[in-house]
Amino acid sequence: MLKLLKVLLLLHYHLVFSSFLESCNTPTSPNGNATALLVLQGFLSNGIVTVTIDPSSAFAKSGIAAMVNYTSGSLLIDHTSGTLYNAFTAICTHQGCTISSFDSGSSQFVCGCHGSRFDLSGKVAQGPASAPLQQYQTQFSNNQLIITL
Ligand code: FES
Repeated sequence: MLKLLKVLLLLHYHLVFSSFLESCNTPTSPNGNATALLVLQGFLSNGIVTVTIDPSSAFAKSGIAAMVNYTSGSLLIDHTSGTLYNAFTAICTHQGCTISSFDSGSSQFVCGCHGSRFDLSGKVAQGPASAPLQQYQTQFSNNQLIITL
């Protein structure tokens, strides 16, 4: 009886370990050349997130994407050009993971949970997500990026 229990236990561990390894190699795992986004701190007040962007910071250059963390959430920001910024929720529309990576080669935000990708307009570039990221209105002046939630 004890021998049977040991065999069953070994079989169980084998199945658990195999499934873990398989999940690491599926095409839906984090992928591509995505790297962690530059992270900035934002401050939320009355439904408005304010981010100070130092003119000497990396994010002051256009063509840079970043993540803005504030007390109750995170946003994805793309500095399009000059004073133009696009802001999106960082919550993936697939299953709600926080998107925190960016593939600069393809200019896509990448969800590390199952590999969904979103272009710089928030549209799905690769599933499994099927809905675009919610976009928020932005305004920039005096080194302040203001995002209205
Ligand atoms: S939560 Fe599944 S791809 Fe983002």
